[in-house]
Amino acid sequence: MAFPKIRMRRLRRTPAMRRLVRQTTLSIDDLVYPLFVRPGEGLKVPIKSMTDCFHFSPDTIGAEAAEVASLGIPAVLLFGLPDKKDQIGSQAWAETGVVQRSISQIKKAAPDLLVITDVCLCEYTDHGHCGVIKEGKIDNDATCELLAKMALSHAQAGADIIAPSDMMDGRVKYIRQALEENDFQDIAIMSYAAKYASAFYGPFRDAAESTPSFGDRKGYQMDPANSDQAMAEIALDIAEGADIVMVKPALCFLDIIHRAKRRFDCPIAAYNVSGEYMMLNSAAQAGLLDKDSAMLEMLGSIKRAGSDIIITYFAKEVAKLLSK
Ligand code: PBG
Repeated sequence: MAFPKIRMRRLRRTPAMRRLVRQTTLSIDDLVYPLFVRPGEGLKVPIKSMTDCFHFSPDTIGAEAAEVASLGIPAVLLFGLPDKKDQIGSQAWAETGVVQRSISQIKKAAPDLLVITDVCLCEYTDHGHCGVIKEGKIDNDATCELLAKMALSHAQAGADIIAPSDMMDGRVKYIRQALEENDFQDIAIMSYAAKYASAFYGPFRDAAESTPSFGDRKGYQMDPANSDQAMAEIALDIAEGADIVMVKPALCFLDIIHRAKRRFDCPIAAYNVSGEYMMLNSAAQAGLLDKDSAMLEMLGSIKRAGSDIIITYFAKEVAKLLSK
């Protein structure tokens, strides 16, 4: 009988065989765990829109960071919710701001854990937009100056990596310049370079209390229909001084991650956003799929697409699974 010489199933026969030929392996080293802090004392308040996520206060964030570090996760990404919001988001660069105070607590509790800080005004402005508003429009360049101030204050507080997520043009250059001029040349920038105007940020906006009070973010975040523009955004951010570039969200944009990985030599990060996280959690809760396998498949696809770094609310769970 003339049977094909190649039988693909030979290499799938046993677990050891599958392990031997496996191309992509998810590692704890790839993970970044996002954390939310707000002013207060003794807080560990469950976030309604996001399963197993909490609002911490500066005095409780250290213990959480220590746990994250003990799981072997290399980095956390910090988001702050100030107690006072105003038109320009001035709590964002306050020395006594909630992120600034939390960084020192994390560094005390877990000195080797990398602290990445999200730099954006949307949590700090009373209108919820990522930039300052002049005559009804987001003023790009005025916003960049404030973002640079915010980034600098995070660096002064001890942040290791600054992550601007606002999508203003030129902000990486402003931030890089502020860091260089103030002797923070060793602080890395991980820019949200290709950040899309996505419906998948829904649960996060509840968690961060950052839903815009009017309009949407389509005037600064990218149109999901475009992919060439993502390459242009990434190239610009690298030219302006970004060390790591991010694609966000991850799942609907695996093609963008793949293109970016082929084209650029710096590390590529991807953000497995709140909507992706809650889609899986909700389906698992409804008994529709097995959570652990779905989670590994989901994160594995992001890695396979070309992401070197994966920011995910699943980080702690995955780390526990991977170290079993
Ligand atoms: C701030 C910011 C957002 C997210 C990260 N940083 C929200 C937004 O742009 O509206 C979303 C993260 C997530 O959904 O998990 N600009």
